[in-house]
Amino acid sequence: MANKIRLGVFGLGTVGSGLINIIQKRHDRLMSQYGIELEVAKAVVRTPSKKRGCDVSGIQISRDFHDILDDPSIDIVVELIGGTQEAAQIVSSALRADKPVVSANKALIAAQGPELYRLSSEHKTPLYAEASVGGGIPILKTLRESLVANRITSLTAIINGTTNFILTKMEEEGLSYHESLKLAGEMGFAEADPTMDVEGFDAMQKLRILGAHMLGGAFPEGDILCEGISGLVESDFRFARSQGLVIKLLAIARRRSDGMELRVHPTLIPRLHPLASVRNEFNAVYLNGDAVGEVMLSGRGAGSLPTASAVYADIVDICRRTTKAVRLEDGSQPLRVIDADEIETEYYLRWTVLDKPGVIGEVAGVLGRHGISVSTVSAELVPNVPDLGELEIVVHRTQEKNIRCAMSVIDRLDSIRGKGTFIRIERSLA
Ligand code: HSE
Repeated sequence: MANKIRLGVFGLGTVGSGLINIIQKRHDRLMSQYGIELEVAKAVVRTPSKKRGCDVSGIQISRDFHDILDDPSIDIVVELIGGTQEAAQIVSSALRADKPVVSANKALIAAQGPELYRLSSEHKTPLYAEASVGGGIPILKTLRESLVANRITSLTAIINGTTNFILTKMEEEGLSYHESLKLAGEMGFAEADPTMDVEGFDAMQKLRILGAHMLGGAFPEGDILCEGISGLVESDFRFARSQGLVIKLLAIARRRSDGMELRVHPTLIPRLHPLASVRNEFNAVYLNGDAVGEVMLSGRGAGSLPTASAVYADIVDICRRTTKAVRLEDGSQPLRVIDADEIETEYYLRWTVLDKPGVIGEVAGVLGRHGISVSTVSAELVPNVPDLGELEIVVHRTQEKNIRCAMSVIDRLDSIRGKGTFIRIERSLA
């Protein structure tokens, strides 16, 4: 028997639409995994007639908060309207009515998290807000559950996609601050008021949430050092390059014997540090736990589906706890593993060959007859060994069976010494 969970969703904007799309797409999977069915029963929005980026048929849409909050058949309240005033009312009313809440609202959780979590614990009713920090990156659950064995000694994060995008464009493409800001605005993840991003306030709100999860305490906003990126100029980037450094807007929480450091500011970090490879709108959290050591999580910190992914996970988490649903799949069903012959990648191929006319043509001919298209060829004499050369060929994507067949033919050519070898090339790792 399925556990049917009725959701009341406040807000059907970018994240709300993404959530509905995921709920519809994952319906059967959630059923077979946990025996849970999610139904978006009601939605409260500012403009009910507005066109949405999702299928809203079957959802009762209104403008009245009470339609959800006073409905005893609503099992979970999802707050995606943003802002703080109305959102605080929604979340606190829901918790007082013992309705579990999922929120994506960083401004609300940063400013009023301590009171709301207190209310949640008084009512023994969960309040989850994974999507409030780092979009789709599961950092709050990781701190709360997966790293519970650890005292987190420091946490360093890139948690504003807009500024990371701007810094990447300025560093890699030499664009000006204003050109990069304009581009970031067009990408759709900047705040309605982009000074929230560029002056570090958005990152500071998220740092307050991270800091509270890391340390179990609250921090007044005014105690956090907050500097943005608007004052950076080309010579800062030139200096960084000359020193093997890159500039990132970091949010840092660090334990010291005499207190806590909490700060947001542009920072020069070594080009080889894992955080330096976090580019464009991507976010990352790099932390140190006294048991686990260093851990880094990175991913998309904004956008409809990444953020909705975190909201959906919180909802399912609550469903699993409240319904005591257990995983139905036991992992014993045999699944088909693709045969190595059917792998498809680019390949780097190498042979030791006799240095004589026509060798490259012979090898390329065999590859061609096996339907393999050559991308680059290079050949060099083996130093201090007369008449021998190294032939290296990179080929376009092909099935592995073609490579194995072609190489077994090539290995038998008179001009080949020993056996050829290959290495698979995975450029995107997507
Ligand atoms: N403006 C935010 C950012 C959106 O750029 O990261 C996600 O909170």
